[in-house]
Amino acid sequence: MKNIILIGFMGSGKTSVGIKIASLTGLKFEDLDERIVRDSKTQIKDIFAKFGEDYFRKLETKTAKKVLKPGSMVVSTGGGIVTRPENFVVLKKGGTVVYLKNSFAVCARRLRGCIDRPLFDSANLGKTEKLFKMRQKFYDKAADITVNTGKMSVLQAAKEVIKKAGIKVEKNKA
Ligand code: S3P
Repeated sequence: MKNIILIGFMGSGKTSVGIKIASLTGLKFEDLDERIVRDSKTQIKDIFAKFGEDYFRKLETKTAKKVLKPGSMVVSTGGGIVTRPENFVVLKKGGTVVYLKNSFAVCARRLRGCIDRPLFDSANLGKTEKLFKMRQKFYDKAADITVNTGKMSVLQAAKEVIKKAGIKVEKNKA
């Protein structure tokens, strides 16, 4: 089986759904943002503040290449991974790309009060919504599979990804 790579906007549930898929299937889970923090020993918001978004994007590509070796892992990505053309190749080669799709309203509700995402501005939701709209075509282009998770719980979304991607579930874990 190929890696399962979760993409989607901030607040789309990539990390929580990824963890749930891993616990249901017994697959290993890796979160690219967490890996960046671990490897650089720096929080994402501090990387943005000290070195800028461009630097972060390069680090993100480097980390994606490092993590997405042939294998059977569940990998959640940062919402902006689709903004660099080079990453489409990395994602497509890396595994089955699953887009967790939902409305901006759902993402914004989940991100309310969040202060550690440099590109989520709770004081200027219009700006974040523009980013959301601008990115939709990139998520659609990168996706092999799309799951509309808007009305689903984390468990339902995880089960839907497992079903659509045809992941084998370990005995006693379904
Ligand atoms: C970003 C999303 C974040 C993180 C960084 C940039 C983006 O990840 O990579 O703050 O550009 O959308 P999440 O999607 O996990 O919040």
